Amino acid sequence: MHIYKVGGAVRDRLLGRPVSDIDWLVVGATVEEMQAQGFRPVGADFPVFIHPKTGEEYALARTERKSGRGYGGFTFHASPEVTLEEDLIRRDLTINAMAEDDQGNLHDPYRGKADLDKRILRHVSPAFAEDPLRVLRVARFAARYAPLGFHVADETLELMRQISTSGELQALTAERSWKEIERALMEAQPQVFIEVLRDCGALQQLMPELDPSPQALAPLQQAAGHRQPLHVRWACLLQGVRDTSQLKAVNHRFKAPRECQELALLVGECLPLAHRAMELEAAALLELLQKFDVYRRPQRFEDFIAACEMEALARQAESYPQAAYLRGAASAARGVDVKPLVAQGLTGQALGEALKAERLQALTRYKG
Ligand code: CTP
Repeated sequence: MHIYKVGGAVRDRLLGRPVSDIDWLVVGATVEEMQAQGFRPVGADFPVFIHPKTGEEYALARTERKSGRGYGGFTFHASPEVTLEEDLIRRDLTINAMAEDDQGNLHDPYRGKADLDKRILRHVSPAFAEDPLRVLRVARFAARYAPLGFHVADETLELMRQISTSGELQALTAERSWKEIERALMEAQPQVFIEVLRDCGALQQLMPELDPSPQALAPLQQAAGHRQPLHVRWACLLQGVRDTSQLKAVNHRFKAPRECQELALLVGECLPLAHRAMELEAAALLELLQKFDVYRRPQRFEDFIAACEMEALARQAESYPQAAYLRGAASAARGVDVKPLVAQGLTGQALGEALKAERLQALTRYKG
């Protein structure tokens, strides 16, 4: 049996990037041999094992064919006869189809190293088309490696275009797609992810609601530059979609986490109010703060302010004084003490109304 380091670990080491997890490939072994050595199988019909000590993944060399059944719609043919080259050819990109043996020798039958040096994301073979998720993966890698000067090869973009127009992206589950979207949004240049999806026609299939123009993508770029968390980036991506039913449709299509869904909807609805914060009457300010429930959920309001700020900065605003103003308003309203009202014997609706009236006064004073 021969064991190779494969995939992302080889690629990222050659790029001088930190390697987070290592995938191993085992050539010339049977399931029984692996188990005899203490490897634990990951699942019943998936030829991947966990190393008993390191916890790293070891996959048996395999060829795979699309079947529409089983794990992600694939059937596997794993056997000791499958060669390294046969395993590598079914992989997505040449830069992901390199292997390293225990002597540190590079095995690179599909010239991944040359593409790495030329900064090209190129598919290995027509087998690329067997998993439509790869359209999103390539766009994600383009976003990740854009700062290094990578771009998608013309022929790969063409293949991605064929996959997109064939309607196959519709077969992807929300979970698999979201995982890619989430990871892409957290990259340094997430707007490149959307641009690549746009250029191959996938965006039209996945998120037709989105305007992929440079202006519309600029808030997301700002959010990445300011290292904002995922939900702020998601809200920034969708800030141009002002129609609530469209926003809901995108949120649901990918089963985005609750925090992402909520912030995107709030930004869609309230961003213009934040921009006009200083001109709002005390009553309108209060309504905004109540809507956000800033008393119990202060962080959600902070995230909203951050998304609005990213949108303003993306339109060349030099600063966003509304942010400090809104924070000040929130703390003025929060400063109202409920205890004296309770001491007066107020309860229920009457207490709520008295609290609201006090907060209104506090905001009127705040506006000065
Ligand atoms: N792979 C593939 N097609 C997929 C998923 C994975 O060809 N749809 C192959 C690639 O060779 C990839 C390897 O499996 O390098 C490991 O996949 P994964 O761990 O998902 O990605 P990495 O390449 O390690 O990249 P990342 O840094 O994003 O984890």
